[in-house]
Amino acid sequence: MKTNVLLHNSYGKPEDVVRLTTYEIEELAEGQVLVDMAFSPINPADLNMLEGTYYTQPELPAVLGNEGVGVVEAVAEGVTSVKVGDHVIFPFRGKDNWVGLWAEKVVSPANELVIVPSEISLQQAAMLTVNPATAYQLLTLFDDLSSGDVVIQNAGNSSVGRWVISIAKSMGVKTISLVRNVELIDDLKALGADWVFVDDEDVVKKIKEASSDSRLAFNAVGGQSATHVMKGLVSDGILVTYGAMSKEPVQVSSGALIYKNIWVTGFNRAKWVAENPKEVVLDVYKKLIDFILKHKIEIPVEATYSFSDVDKAIAHASQSGRTGKVLFEI
Ligand SMILES: NC(=O)c1ccc[n+]([C@@H]2O[C@H](COP(=O)([O-])OP(=O)(O)OC[C@H]3O[C@@H](n4cnc5c(N)ncnc54)[C@H](OP(=O)(O)O)[C@@H]3O)[C@@H](O)[C@H]2O)c1
Repeated sequence: MKTNVLLHNSYGKPEDVVRLTTYEIEELAEGQVLVDMAFSPINPADLNMLEGTYYTQPELPAVLGNEGVGVVEAVAEGVTSVKVGDHVIFPFRGKDNWVGLWAEKVVSPANELVIVPSEISLQQAAMLTVNPATAYQLLTLFDDLSSGDVVIQNAGNSSVGRWVISIAKSMGVKTISLVRNVELIDDLKALGADWVFVDDEDVVKKIKEASSDSRLAFNAVGGQSATHVMKGLVSDGILVTYGAMSKEPVQVSSGALIYKNIWVTGFNRAKWVAENPKEVVLDVYKKLIDFILKHKIEIPVEATYSFSDVDKAIAHASQSGRTGKVLFEI
């Protein structure tokens, strides 16, 4: 069976190396499901994979696309965990079982799918696999946060940053978010952010004035920005790095280690999925789906593109100051 996909056969500038083509997909084997894809976002990890700079790279040629949602079109005989018409996401794909989701049709093992209730729109479901799960884990894995605690983060306007703000608010946890653009401050406050500061040379003072006892900080930028959030921590505080948007290294001063015992660690969702029992992962996705349904959270979408406009879509996704994700409408 043939399907249209976005394929890349070399590494380089993202818009130069990806092309729309047809691709042969296998017939359904035992336990498999055919999914008709609906939406798939362009995430920083996708762009890094096209550049060849991500920590896991599928073998080339590869269909890209780290997350997305589709509707089950057919199931192999004997599959009972999903049925035709279900909306499904693919949280268990990883480097060892890569299936690119920038494709019209995808064949997947049924037991690697999670059903998303149809009350969650397909656009929102397309963004459910990676960023909300990352935000949830950042807030729950590294510290036992209680109502009134304060966490610090940079890239406050990123999708993960917005999820951190929303999930933290539901836990009663306050957030200090750093952004690059002053225009984003009101937007994030409307989402529930407690403090939003522009990430400049005065920001450490502002962080400390806002909170003098933050134990946990999240870094998706690196460089100076990572230093800023780290300096806002109390002794024995934890800096969790989960992204590297500036491509600059995280630098930790000897003083931060010797006098403040700062703990420097990291998180990767795909690694967490690969290293944990399936029930643990499923439990987190169940909690997230319940949370989204209860709080009616919607992450903004800035634009949708068809596969034939892949160059424009990638250029748009690479722009700074976006107020939402760029998705392929498949
Ligand atoms: N470890 C994991 O499991 C995991 C999971 C999900 C995401 N991530 C990582 O988390 C980060 C955010 O992902 P996302 O999908 O939430 O991003 P996104 O919604 O596409 O937004 C990108 C964010 O990065 C900021 N940014 C871009 N270049 C920057 C630079 N040079 N300096 C400072 N900020 C910069 C942007 O700031 P503006 O708003 O000012 O443009 C924006 O807030 C990425 O690094 C991604 O790879 C990691």
